[in-house]
Amino acid sequence: MVKTPKTTVIFLAVITVVLWNCDKNYSNRYFQHGSVVSASSSASQIGVDVLQNGGNAFDAAVATGFALAVTYPQAGNIGGGGFMVARSANDGQAFTLDFRETAPGQAFSSMFQDDEGNVIPGMSVRTHNSVGVPGTVDGLLRILADHGSGFFSRQELLAPAIDLAEKGFPLSHYVASQINSKREYLSRDPGTKEVFFPLDTTEWSAGDILVQKDLASTLRLIANEGRDGFYKGRTADLLIEEIQGGGGIISTEDLDSYASVYRDPVTGTFREFDIISMGPPSSGGILLIQMLNMVEFLSVDSLQWNSRDYVHLLTEIERRSYADRAEHLGDSDFWEVPAIRLISKDYAISRTASIDPLRATPSEMVFAGAAYPDTSQTTHYSIIDKDGNCVSVTTTLNTNFGSGLLVDEAGFLLNNEMDDFSVKPGVPNEYGLIGNEANSIQGGKRPLSSMAPTIVLKNDDPFMIIGSPGGSTIITTVLQSLLNVISHDMDMQAAVAAPRVHSQWLPDVLYKEPGAITDITESELEEMGHSVRFKDGGTFGQANGLLIDSRGISGGADPRGDNATAAY
Ligand code: DON
Repeated sequence: MVKTPKTTVIFLAVITVVLWNCDKNYSNRYFQHGSVVSASSSASQIGVDVLQNGGNAFDAAVATGFALAVTYPQAGNIGGGGFMVARSANDGQAFTLDFRETAPGQAFSSMFQDDEGNVIPGMSVRTHNSVGVPGTVDGLLRILADHGSGFFSRQELLAPAIDLAEKGFPLSHYVASQINSKREYLSRDPGTKEVFFPLDTTEWSAGDILVQKDLASTLRLIANEGRDGFYKGRTADLLIEEIQGGGGIISTEDLDSYASVYRDPVTGTFREFDIISMGPPSSGGILLIQMLNMVEFLSVDSLQWNSRDYVHLLTEIERRSYADRAEHLGDSDFWEVPAIRLISKDYAISRTASIDPLRATPSEMVFAGAAYPDTSQTTHYSIIDKDGNCVSVTTTLNTNFGSGLLVDEAGFLLNNEMDDFSVKPGVPNEYGLIGNEANSIQGGKRPLSSMAPTIVLKNDDPFMIIGSPGGSTIITTVLQSLLNVISHDMDMQAAVAAPRVHSQWLPDVLYKEPGAITDITESELEEMGHSVRFKDGGTFGQANGLLIDSRGISGGADPRGDNATAAY
């Protein structure tokens, strides 16, 4: 296995960044106080304004989160859910908040199957039964109450989002094209059509103004009444009317009893770095740490970036980890997840034993390890404030624009997170992921996620804050972005921009982005037994990261979308 000069790697990465990211003002610049990187430049700026005016990273997360619900409608949300991984500068304690959607109380394991036990196509994605009980509003307001600086009221933090919804905001080219590309999906529901395609013939262009007056009213209710402005009263009534009117099963009781939950993060180490990430009901943190453990044991990161051996070994590692995901991972409130074993260094070593350095192992020969109970759209934003409080949030409606169903008169889109459950053992979900009993549907249970909001520490100080959308590719996107900085000397912007590869056990495919590997490497990998393919859509993931080093804070805003860093 040959190690090639890092200069080659850096050159490739720089070319990629220059080509993909020539208009990003903040890339490769260093700031001394605070920064927000998110999927929308106005949402990032709103967060930084809060930081500059005396707010902390948690205040900024609330303002940015609600702003994204307006300016990034395909994934920013109040009708979805997500996860926050955070570290408080005061005591250095890390914690996570799980505001993932829950299955309605009346949900049951075969609810997406017909009488013969066949999965009904599209039911877990496009219907009123695809919607999980939303968690975002409870989550963001809980964080504000428990960790906000106290300098900003709820009303002040929601005001910019209300303004953007009420008066409208200019669409970027990216968001305009995302809406246009979903015309059929967003026109099925009359309420959704009225907001996104008010005139039958319109195609959105960059600079067109999207106005969301009903959404502004709902945000105002949340600003004035807090949690009750969403989970009770008018908004709750409209949500129930929408869901039950369309044959769905979310009840008033489901809304009333929804609660976000603080959970311990999953933690591990990679070389001299500490990794802090999201545990169940996400698979993100456990898989990330498991894969980093294997990378470290096999010294994969000392190989040339995206060389034959590097990609082969990453693929073999990913194959084994995703096989574990399908078998062992689910909501730990309902299923005993063998987390300690899965993230242990010993387990990683045992999992690498079957890796052949010269041949792909067919996925059908790879099974989940014996681990015993030890006792198309999402979006990520990363924030650091002047005191060093770190916030890493990934939030989602699941697929692009979620279920495409909008709560009439309340103006917000509903998630289709129910598809993240295993609707039937062995049947793939939207991301090709399969699962088993661990992730079967039960009332009140949270569907298994791949979201991996992560914080990396070096010498006990914040070093990186990172995460990504991308369904099943989230975890491998975060993994490669981390390795690009830690092991391949890339700066944060180059690290998130660099083309990626991805493998997830089943389907037995090694996905590549354009430019990720050379034609020669591809032929060599095929000879080793890998099936190398492009993924539908071409690219995957949109990692947003912040790097903190001796020069200051620098942002990495993924050029695959509209992501933007703001800082001061
Ligand atoms: O929680 C999950 O893993 C999925 N609902 C995330 C969906 C996603 O990232 C779509 N984005 N491209």
